[in-house]
Amino acid sequence: MVSTHVDIEQAEWTSGIPFYGPAAVYEGKNIVQLKILSDRRQEGGGIAWLARFSPPPGKLIKIVATALSDEHVFNLEGGKVTKAGQPARSSGGYTLNPKGQPHGAFIGSETVSLVIYRGERDEIVSLEVVDLAPWRLSSPARSDRMNGILIRPATQDDLAVLWDFLVIAAYQADVASAKSVPFVAAHLEGWQRSEDFGFIAERDAEALGAVWARQFSPDEQPAFYVDGRTPEVTIAVSGAARGEGVGGRLLSALMAEAARRGVGLCLNVRHDNPARRLYERIGFRLVSGSAVPNRVGGTSFGMTWAAPR
Ligand SMILES: CC(C)(COP(=O)(O)OP(=O)(O)OC[C@H]1O[C@@H](n2cnc3c(N)ncnc32)[C@H](O)[C@@H]1OP(=O)(O)O)[C@@H](O)C(=O)NCCC(=O)NCCS
Repeated sequence: MVSTHVDIEQAEWTSGIPFYGPAAVYEGKNIVQLKILSDRRQEGGGIAWLARFSPPPGKLIKIVATALSDEHVFNLEGGKVTKAGQPARSSGGYTLNPKGQPHGAFIGSETVSLVIYRGERDEIVSLEVVDLAPWRLSSPARSDRMNGILIRPATQDDLAVLWDFLVIAAYQADVASAKSVPFVAAHLEGWQRSEDFGFIAERDAEALGAVWARQFSPDEQPAFYVDGRTPEVTIAVSGAARGEGVGGRLLSALMAEAARRGVGLCLNVRHDNPARRLYERIGFRLVSGSAVPNRVGGTSFGMTWAAPR
């Protein structure tokens, strides 16, 4: 047989429907596309393709499949994530799914993979678009170690560290000024109240960020009060560590702990704070009619998250 050569740049992406079924299109957009590189199944050989998975914003593609022949997968860009959209421990690199092996993946960002089947291609058991789930902790003490970053529960002894992050979260100049503004200081005074819970992100014992939740009573006049089972979130990540997913992982840990305690979460965000995108991505929703003027002459909104039942 003659050699096959495909110019990858010239080859068009084609719909994934013939191989992945109608679920390869979601709300009119292709979420799975293929460039077939070679197909020798008629001659008893295998099939090779480039697959491009494009999850809709804020969602994950969840695939469950069974390998009908040895399947070699090499991720070229992107990779698997956890249900909470965080990079999976096995993200990237090479995977072999041997014949008969059921396997699955959550894909949370555009991912291109070279897939080579030794014979027949996978049988797709299901392909669906799902919402990001909060990252689950089996116990409040469990820690999350990835990229050398440790997410651990905040304790009574962390008060000084938490003040440092309240300064960032409330856009204060320093701890003294944060303590002098009663509305700001109320987020930490008396820490750790019985209903307070939070997490700290550390790398090499240096605190990179913190998140905590405090249940206010209506007479404390918090900026945004929902009810007695919806504590308010405070979050900050130090400037140099932003955009690495630390904030998302802190929030996921907080959401998992809130779910364990059977409470929801709320927060108050300035209309122009880019953090709003992170909150929406992770499952918080804007509360209509919650816009109020804030301390700095702009508008702030309330957002809430309810634990899945
Ligand atoms: C909000 C914050 C905690 C996010 O932490 P992070 O580790 O950067 O977050 P992640 O890397 O998980 O996610 C990145 C997201 O954070 C947000 N973000 C990025 N830079 C930001 C910044 N300078 N200020 C605020 N939010 C920012 C965006 O939503 C971004 O998502 P995008 O990539 O879709 O734009 C952090 O940016 C921060 O401390 N900001 C200043 C304090 C603050 O605004 N606190 C919230 C008050 S409601």
